[in-house]
Amino acid sequence: MLFSKSGSGVSIELDHVHHQYGGAIAVESVSLGIQAGELVALLGPSGCGKTTLLRVVAGLTRQTGGSVVIGGEKVDALPTNERGAGIVFQNYALFPHMTVAANVAYGLRARRINAAAARDTAAQMLDLVQMGRFGSRFPRELSGGQQQRVALARTLAVKPKVLLLDEPFGALDKNLRLDMQIEIKRIQRELGITTVLVTHDQEEAMSMADRIAVMNAGRVEQFDTPEAIYDRPCSLFVANFVGTANLVAGRLLQDGSGYAVDARDGGRLSLGSAAPCSQVGAVVLATRPEHLAMGTPGEDALSAKVEMVLPLGPSLVYELRLASGDAVKVTQPRTVGSTRYVAGEVVGLRLRPGSPTSVFAA
Ligand SMILES: Nc1ncnc2c1ncn2[C@@H]1O[C@H](COP(=O)(O)OP(=O)(O)O)[C@@H](O)[C@H]1O
Ligand SMILES: [Mg+2]
Repeated sequence: MLFSKSGSGVSIELDHVHHQYGGAIAVESVSLGIQAGELVALLGPSGCGKTTLLRVVAGLTRQTGGSVVIGGEKVDALPTNERGAGIVFQNYALFPHMTVAANVAYGLRARRINAAAARDTAAQMLDLVQMGRFGSRFPRELSGGQQQRVALARTLAVKPKVLLLDEPFGALDKNLRLDMQIEIKRIQRELGITTVLVTHDQEEAMSMADRIAVMNAGRVEQFDTPEAIYDRPCSLFVANFVGTANLVAGRLLQDGSGYAVDARDGGRLSLGSAAPCSQVGAVVLATRPEHLAMGTPGEDALSAKVEMVLPLGPSLVYELRLASGDAVKVTQPRTVGSTRYVAGEVVGLRLRPGSPTSVFAA
């Protein structure tokens, strides 16, 4: 084993990191604490500042404000190689005229490590990414996924303290992406290397990260575990960007010991106990499709009309419309004996017991 788990993990602190290109703000006062050995995803739509933030951590872009601390050391004045940062981009650039093994050994040779030691390390790294048999091939003789693994091996060969990945699976097709995601997560765990993964793909962030920083227009809107971000999004943006959210406009009111949302002309949804992030008044309610149940219409339910039923293997997806015109999706496990509804039927929607809900001031 080349790396020891305890030796390789270092923390990363971002303290009010700010970056402007001319007058345009790309990253706005981002503060994040990433723990040693953690895999954190920077998730957000194109243009929200993910790559800029990663380049600032890497030392490829000098931020206009704030500071970066890696392993307890302020690194703002240090170039990339002195920060111990290893980077893999979407467009892996292997040297085409060098063999796979020579590509992986390249960084070591550049650091004046002797040829035999560099060859050994390169071979170990290729084993680690399960490319041990391909050392004598040329990049053009490999698939995209294989090339990406070689790029990862090359980055890991110089023993970076932090691994920075910018949309590393972007060029791969879906099945290959999943393989690579599992592969990178396995290697990351094995080495205990602190990793920042940039992605615009919420499923990728959800499945790989210990914690996710959801970014919007240069800012981090929420930084938490995948479960917390899915169940308790702190803003409408996060609710919408991560997973599928049903948005229902209405008024929040007190209902016995709990709360309910009165939808415009469309009945009401009882929320049970206290609703987070909310004040009595005009609101938007966000619910997940699996947290709503369909049943008979009634005073205590949202009234909705079934428009479409989509059987998706283990579950059924219902597309419904509320009286207000808002569209709502409901997913139901396709178990034996569960009631099937058909297009045109009017049903009552109620929250499944214990479901989290989010209510935002409108
Ligand atoms: N080199 C640059 N010069 C000027 N503007 C840039 C440069 N790189 C990125 N930007 C702008 O900064 C913003 C954030 O970009 P970027 O960090 O690449 O976002 P993301 O990686 O989330 O797509 C965008 O508005 C982008 O157009
Ligand atoms: Mg980017």
